[in-house]
Amino acid sequence: MRVITSPLEMQHHALALLAAGRTIGLVPTMGYLHEGHASLARIARPRCDEVVLSIFVNPTQFGPGEDLDKYPRDFARDEAICREAGVDTIFFPSAPDMYPAGYSVFLEEHALSAGLCGVSRPNHFRGVLTVVAKLFNLCLPHLAVFGEKDAQQLRVIRQMTRDLNFPLEIVPGPIVREADGLAMSSRNKYLTPDERRDAVLLRQSLDLAEMLAAGGVTEAAEILRSVRDHIESSPHARIDYAVMVDDEMLTPVEALRAPALLALAVHFGKARLLDNTVLRPES
Ligand code: PAF
Repeated sequence: MRVITSPLEMQHHALALLAAGRTIGLVPTMGYLHEGHASLARIARPRCDEVVLSIFVNPTQFGPGEDLDKYPRDFARDEAICREAGVDTIFFPSAPDMYPAGYSVFLEEHALSAGLCGVSRPNHFRGVLTVVAKLFNLCLPHLAVFGEKDAQQLRVIRQMTRDLNFPLEIVPGPIVREADGLAMSSRNKYLTPDERRDAVLLRQSLDLAEMLAAGGVTEAAEILRSVRDHIESSPHARIDYAVMVDDEMLTPVEALRAPALLALAVHFGKARLLDNTVLRPES
């Protein structure tokens, strides 16, 4: 397994692979890898010749007062997980190499990124799209795998890929969960034992919503009331949002008539956790 830190060297490596007729699969990450990331690499593995996993804690997607400086990092552990998951190349650039002095170009999306995380993290998707576009240009992948836990991110990146004609396939990776149902996330590390115990309420509240939908409940207000009540049974939980939106457009829906994304962002102490499920009308 090779580790490349220079963006230019990464691009030369990718060009050489393409010239040799190899196909490239990219798994973009911010490191501190867990089984969820490993599952994305395993999704890429059989679909391409070379799996590139990028590790970059992207400063432009963090807002003031967010956890950029404290974001967990452990490169030695990440390397071991990549080796296990069959990664060929780790791309591990530095922030000054990705954003050299005088850097001034950013990408924005103006529909799907407006709500949900876009409200409490106003420049977040601008940073995500900018770095993902740069990673696409440096790694030249045929496909890129993104986790479904970041449901809005996945949809915004799909939109960018379509609108800017990036010649690659976006492959979704299912959410990977701990034994009790908590979605795996690098930020779970921030949870105290009490918060960790209660964080399972997120998955439970999604189960509850799925049960209500399967039982014929369609009204978004009723489903969301049950979800909120369940989460708020923990004194540690502070809901950022709990919304039911159209699965494609991410616009709020009042009733479950077509597939709807039920998306949650909830603070537990220092951790802001995301989870979601797609609800389908009973019929
Ligand atoms: O999902 C993440 O880890 C990040 O947002 C991504 C896609 C690697 C961009 O920095």
